[in-house]
Amino acid sequence: MAQTHDVIILGAGGAGLFCAGIAARRGRRVLVIDHAPEPGRKIVISGGGRCNFTNVDTSWDRYVSANPRFARSALGRYTAQDFIALVDAHGIAWHEKTLGQLFCDGSARQIVAMLLHEAAGAEIALGSAIRDVTHADGQFTVVFGDRHATAPSLVIATGGPSIPKLGATSFAYDLGRRFGLKIVEPRPALVPLTLPGEEALFRELSGVAATVVARGDGPGFREAALFTHRGLSGPAILQASSYWRHRQPVTIDFVPDQSPGWLLAAKRARPRAGLRSVLGAALPDRLAEALAARIDAPSEMANLRDATLSEIERRLSAWQFLPNGTEGFAKAEVTVGGIATDALNQKTMAAKHLPGLYAIGEAVDVTGWLGGYNFQWAWSSGWVAGQAV
Ligand code: FDA
Repeated sequence: MAQTHDVIILGAGGAGLFCAGIAARRGRRVLVIDHAPEPGRKIVISGGGRCNFTNVDTSWDRYVSANPRFARSALGRYTAQDFIALVDAHGIAWHEKTLGQLFCDGSARQIVAMLLHEAAGAEIALGSAIRDVTHADGQFTVVFGDRHATAPSLVIATGGPSIPKLGATSFAYDLGRRFGLKIVEPRPALVPLTLPGEEALFRELSGVAATVVARGDGPGFREAALFTHRGLSGPAILQASSYWRHRQPVTIDFVPDQSPGWLLAAKRARPRAGLRSVLGAALPDRLAEALAARIDAPSEMANLRDATLSEIERRLSAWQFLPNGTEGFAKAEVTVGGIATDALNQKTMAAKHLPGLYAIGEAVDVTGWLGGYNFQWAWSSGWVAGQAV
């Protein structure tokens, strides 16, 4: 079958569109195929409609992967500063919100418009279901809608299964497997955690937020945690969820700003106060009440032994919750896991065993922290593949 394009990119999300622009500007004939009716749908809704498009503190150790160092090469070759320069060149105004997170001043649609402008040289086929993908004689053939196309390079950029109602699927994994790529078991990440019945007391706190340090099986995140009617949410919990495994606890430091011995100091300063009242000075009122009820130390501070107060301090700074699950892919901002990195070339994102096949973006087992890291991975991995195809 005659070759119709140089590169076919499956998926018109951030990674696919960005890769298309880079390749098209190198003179490649690029076709992007997506089943959604519009491109970049996750970009449009991201960051509350303002797109947290990168993070100035981007670094490979802020990504979850079976091999986190894999991301280092692409992140180093196309950096947050490179993307900021592009955003500036398009006259898109932005601001840093917190923790290095950059957002558009206006609409996230500006980022989609920028990507489409950059990819003007590529053909983008939207609303096209992909019916078949085959490889023979060094050419990939994609049957989509009522058409087919052929190219020596195929880029898998169809993302992960988070938020299916936006058109997200596990297509990347099915296709990857078909072409001999391994899949690291996908699980929902940046997702609220649910608590079992015995933690019902905390459900009464639905709507209460506090600055905490939350930790799954990984680093601690100092941000806001939010109690919900189903369990725990808020940025600190979403971050911890990416490192959380079933049947493991999540540890929360409710008093990250208190130094060791603070309850002993409170005992000396306010001997007649109850624990509930002392906690109320350090925590939101309803949370102080719920924690004091669980600690069950009814007497005045003066009557509590120093050892007991030290133990209470320890509990408050390492409170363990045992979630019974997450709110799943329907609510997960991203997916941890995906196409295993060990079969990919970190400099180009090409499959080592099948030249011409590439995987980029969230489809790959590289998942960033909350705060612009995931889009930066989409840009960086899309850029290196766009240079190579
Ligand atoms: P993405 O999922 O964007 O694109 C994949 C494309 O493939 C889609 O257009 C889809 O329609 C298409 N596709 C899927 N299956 C297909 C099939 N079978 N056939 C054809 N096409 C198919 N990150 C960040 O850094 N900052 C932020 O502010 C946010 N905010 C945010 C909010 C919400 C609500 C969500 C859900 C996610 C975020 N993220 C984020 C994460 C970020 O959106 C995500 O990591 C990137 O969009 C991933 O880009 P990709 O291009 O890899 O996949």
